[in-house]
Amino acid sequence: MFLVTGATGGLGRRIVRLLQERELTVRAFVRLMSNYAELENRGAETFIGDLSNDRDIQKAVQNVQYVISAHGGDAESANYRANIELIDRSLESGVQHFVFVSVLGVDRGYEDAPVFKAKREVEKYLQNSGLTYTILRPAGFASNLLPLAEQFRRTGTYLLIGDPQSRTSIISTDDLARIVIASVFVEGAKNQILPVGGPEVLQRQEVPQIFGRVFDREPILINPPLLAFDGIRNVVGLFNPKVRESLGTLRALLANEYFCTPAEVDRIESLFNLKLETLENFLRRYVSN
Ligand SMILES: NC(=O)c1ccc[n+]([C@@H]2O[C@H](COP(=O)([O-])OP(=O)(O)OC[C@H]3O[C@@H](n4cnc5c(N)ncnc54)[C@H](OP(=O)(O)O)[C@@H]3O)[C@@H](O)[C@H]2O)c1
Repeated sequence: MFLVTGATGGLGRRIVRLLQERELTVRAFVRLMSNYAELENRGAETFIGDLSNDRDIQKAVQNVQYVISAHGGDAESANYRANIELIDRSLESGVQHFVFVSVLGVDRGYEDAPVFKAKREVEKYLQNSGLTYTILRPAGFASNLLPLAEQFRRTGTYLLIGDPQSRTSIISTDDLARIVIASVFVEGAKNQILPVGGPEVLQRQEVPQIFGRVFDREPILINPPLLAFDGIRNVVGLFNPKVRESLGTLRALLANEYFCTPAEVDRIESLFNLKLETLENFLRRYVSN
């Protein structure tokens, strides 16, 4: 039995779907108010709870062999404390393998990015826990771009905040879901930290060009500088310091490069015996449906 947290998220939903397709038993951890009907309709066992509640975590890990932590949320409660609790309870109940979805660049020590800090602390805790683990550090997910692609289809515009030349290697969220599941079966993924990015290093300004090819439309790029984001963040911070803090993670994402080297891509492809798909391929599969 697999336990998947974040089962209604962009990644978690795909993980649950794949597990079901492969006829592997799965318990999807979902919140009461979330949209989990599709998961149930496909036959997944759902565990309705909240990761901010320790009792829920304790119950959810019962009779589970594999835990996949793929939830998001705030830095302190969801990203840090819920994961520490999941690790502790997994140890207690004899979980065989714990897969933690972290983030590329988590080890760069960005001071102002609370989610990055929380994830790095969880990585260290998991490594020292005694559990068999795989820590995946993905670049940005291709599925994040689907709403932007829809907007582009309608308006031809693309909003890019910050340096258009900064590099990224966006990962197909479907490939990542496969890698997450394979992590518990592939010997070489045991007790490893693996950066996971797509097969090509793109400049961020290439994303609207790809949209342009997919929709056969000339892109209109709207490109405010990072300073504009900082200005808004500072004003918001005057009224709500908490929001300012959480925008720090977004700033770290906008201000820095997140890509994998060709050697890292090769390692993933050979370890998991798959060919990673390009962003364009991912988008074409979704927008043509
Ligand atoms: N998106 C990216 O580009 C990216 C890149 C690198 C790493 N990651 C990491 O990958 C993981 C998955 O990302 P994603 O984009 O798929 O996430 P997402 O779409 O934002 O979904 C987040 C999930 O976490 C659940 N969740 C949040 N707080 C919860 C709580 N207190 N109790 C129970 N469930 C809770 C949400 O449930 P509800 O449906 O109830 O809200 C949702 O299912 C995250 O750890 C993220 O940090 C993401």
